[in-house]
Amino acid sequence: MPDPAAVPPALPPADRLQRAFAAEIAAAVAKYPAGRQASAVLDLLYLAQAAYGRITTEAIEEVAAVLEMDPTQVRGVVGFYSLFKEEPHGRFVIHYCTDLPCALRGADAFLPRVCRAFGVPGPGETSPDGLFSVEEAMCLAACDRAPMMQVNLSYFHDLTDERLDGIVAALKAKAAAGEAVGPPFGFGSVRGVAEGVPSVEAPS
Ligand code: FES
Repeated sequence: MPDPAAVPPALPPADRLQRAFAAEIAAAVAKYPAGRQASAVLDLLYLAQAAYGRITTEAIEEVAAVLEMDPTQVRGVVGFYSLFKEEPHGRFVIHYCTDLPCALRGADAFLPRVCRAFGVPGPGETSPDGLFSVEEAMCLAACDRAPMMQVNLSYFHDLTDERLDGIVAALKAKAAAGEAVGPPFGFGSVRGVAEGVPSVEAPS
């Protein structure tokens, strides 16, 4: 019979982020002067989201520990940015802009086609294979290139049926090749991420 007054041993801190992305963490922190490592919080949160699958309490605590921040500060950052997801979501999150300027260029009418291509029933849903989540987005600052979407951190402009199908096929190939366990799609160089994805222009 355990002693009810006994203090349970402290759980070891989660280290899933550090085990998955040690090099990326070091590179992100190195961008800032010594003592200013907290400036890398967005980078680390995005990496943590990939390592944990979503932003969990453990992810927040690990980011805070690595950057010597208060977890409450880190949680405040999470709440401010729509790219950080506390709920389960697809490996690739598609933010498809349906704001007015894009709608005037046909983005609204193209939305059902986008959902169909990614295999989701509608905006706000995730494909049954867990690969894709499609969300409607407000202006993503590429109004002149609509229809356009942001897949994780990469932009894809001037979408057409053909281009969309090429992007979906390329993303599925990346996932099938095991790249789902690498750094989050779009992290780092956008131009590098676009390599190997046909009919896609990196943002200028
Ligand atoms: S309104 Fe769609 S990118 Fe600006």
